[in-house]
Amino acid sequence: NALNAAIAGASTLALAAVSFNALAAQSITVGHTTSDNSHYSVGVDAFKEKLEELSGGEFTVEEHPSGALGGERDMIEGLQIGTLDAVVTSTGPLGNFVPETYVLDLPFLFKDYAQARCVLDGEVGQDLLAKVGEHELVGLAWSENGFRHMTNSQREINTPEDAAGLKVRTMENEMHMAAFREMDVHPTPMAFPEVFTALQQGTVDGQENPIPVILTSNLWEVQDYLSLTGHVYSPAIMLASPILWEGLSEEEQGWFIEAAQAGAEATRAEVSRLETEGLAELKEKGMTVVEDIDKSLFQNAVEPSYKGYTDQYGSEMLDRIRNSD
Ligand code: PAF
Repeated sequence: NALNAAIAGASTLALAAVSFNALAAQSITVGHTTSDNSHYSVGVDAFKEKLEELSGGEFTVEEHPSGALGGERDMIEGLQIGTLDAVVTSTGPLGNFVPETYVLDLPFLFKDYAQARCVLDGEVGQDLLAKVGEHELVGLAWSENGFRHMTNSQREINTPEDAAGLKVRTMENEMHMAAFREMDVHPTPMAFPEVFTALQQGTVDGQENPIPVILTSNLWEVQDYLSLTGHVYSPAIMLASPILWEGLSEEEQGWFIEAAQAGAEATRAEVSRLETEGLAELKEKGMTVVEDIDKSLFQNAVEPSYKGYTDQYGSEMLDRIRNSD
């Protein structure tokens, strides 16, 4: 009769819905603050491709670039409460959540890309990744932002004295702020999505970031001078939400780690490419570039900030990094 037919129809629909859900891919929301043609974006593309391949389409990835989901600090908080699934971030704001990672943001700690990558891929990097897991976050893989250089709208910077008195936007990282204070620069911590406007309106005179960021975030439009100070290596990390993580099987967790490693590798390759090609492009776009910098002058100027670090956090991690050469 009509009632039985209606019940049979409803249960067929319910069954169809269940099997559709089982087949539907789980969408993973990944946020970052750089643009959709940046080194981070290249990494997210590689992450997506690998995760979709390994999972046979069980997971798909939705990228939210350009700070659409907030600044790096906001997004890390978002991971802890589960409003997004994964983030690619510099370590800039990470020390506020995982103080053990502050060591990585000390100025002039790494001498070149090869050394930095080797330390992050080795025991020290793996230990720090595990520490991240003790702070309501999951560290999937170390990635890369790059060596940071100073830009400003006022003058060429050849020596720390040239930088003195400038108002410079820094990341929300106490190691960076302490180092700039040693150079008599006025550090102004700010989330990255606000930086372009702050430079444009003259709220700050300068900022510091790796070449890939200066190029792909169009900072060259509002900054005339670039000095290749390379004052700090800026690692990046791909983090996942513990809420996502706890819902995954061990096999699925393995896919995420492998995909994040593929993403990091692609990002590093893009950083290496932009270190030379991006610099040439910035010159073409009209930036005055000071290339021949006596880094020892800057290194000596910021040296006292190391004492601030060791007084607070001890020297064990620092020694391990220095000895891992
Ligand atoms: O300057 C920063 O905040 C970071 O270097 C950036 C651009 C967000 C990339 O991680």
